[in-house]
Amino acid sequence: MTSKSHELFVEEIFIKPEENKPVVKIVKKTTPSLKERGLSPKAIMEKAKKVENDEFYTLYEDVEKEISMYDKSIWKDKTVFCNCDDAIDNDDNRKNSAFALYFRKHFKELGLKKLICTHYAGKVDLFNQGSKAYVAYISCTTDGEKIYKDYPKGYDGSFDHPLSLKILHEEADIVCTNPPFSRAIDYWEIIVKSGKKFIIVSNIANPVTKAYIPYFKNSRVWAGYNRVDYFLNPKRQLTDAAGHWYTNIPIENRPKYELLKIMPLKDIPEKYKKYDDSKTLLVDNCYIPNNIKKPFAVSARPILNGVLEKEYKIIEENESYIAVVNGKECFRRVLVQKT
Ligand SMILES: C[S@@+](CC[C@H](N)C(=O)[O-])C[C@H]1O[C@@H](n2cnc3c(N)ncnc32)[C@H](O)[C@@H]1O
Repeated sequence: MTSKSHELFVEEIFIKPEENKPVVKIVKKTTPSLKERGLSPKAIMEKAKKVENDEFYTLYEDVEKEISMYDKSIWKDKTVFCNCDDAIDNDDNRKNSAFALYFRKHFKELGLKKLICTHYAGKVDLFNQGSKAYVAYISCTTDGEKIYKDYPKGYDGSFDHPLSLKILHEEADIVCTNPPFSRAIDYWEIIVKSGKKFIIVSNIANPVTKAYIPYFKNSRVWAGYNRVDYFLNPKRQLTDAAGHWYTNIPIENRPKYELLKIMPLKDIPEKYKKYDDSKTLLVDNCYIPNNIKKPFAVSARPILNGVLEKEYKIIEENESYIAVVNGKECFRRVLVQKT
């Protein structure tokens, strides 16, 4: 978990209808680091576990920061599908999801073939799009952006509705969105099984959470580049979050490798290594021993920083590892071993 202060670029996103494309006015705000806000990794994990409300907006700058990390060539002639309430609206930027805005704004630059966004007819209408679900098909021609909104009878806009699944399987090349937290397990299953490429936001604790561990163990999913520390709540107020990007698009030379401290066990400072009551080694602060054969337990952080790409593997796929030290349970980890 990074403890740097963040420069945030928030809120002032708007559309100039006469230009038929979104315009993003960037406002810089500096926010305190997690450490400055008194948040420890444990506190973040606890918070991450408690997120139940689905109604959060992803910030435009988070989408921009992550998507701009991938080689542009991956988007060429591709259809991007944003399938979790990623509204499209030409009158007001606030009625677009940040994903919809980003891909509309960069459509030509990325060489996209098509953008397909769905509006979910849920209890909370996050983007003020009305109670009717729709599928919006966006393309760019020499005459400019073309938007066609389809309101099929009986469609609810859910990612697992047969029409959404048909689009996923038959039209989509890359799926990008921030799915509802409450349905994340179902969402991951559908999206991973579809075999499509994806870049999505989910809980930062997923690499040590039982339901998701098999995806990391079997290299079906890995961390994207960035964490997501803030969302906007329905009142458009900045709200702390504990999210991270996840993807199945190859990441070459992950910048966060440099946060991994791989070294002989004896060189790891005492304060970051201990044995639990069952004599399993626990290492913290991204220290990773490279000279022991036995499994040891790590938090989500080294997994997010790419340790599984450095000749280590998860050895238990069905459970998180809950260490017990002096009779007290510690936060969730996962057991890894050098291959
Ligand atoms: C975390 S919010 C993200 C919204 C938007 N994608 C963004 O990134 O700003 C998740 C959204 O998914 C919607 N949602 C809930 N259940 C859904 C479902 N079954 N299918 C699609 N979207 C759903 C919620 O209403 C909410 O608007």
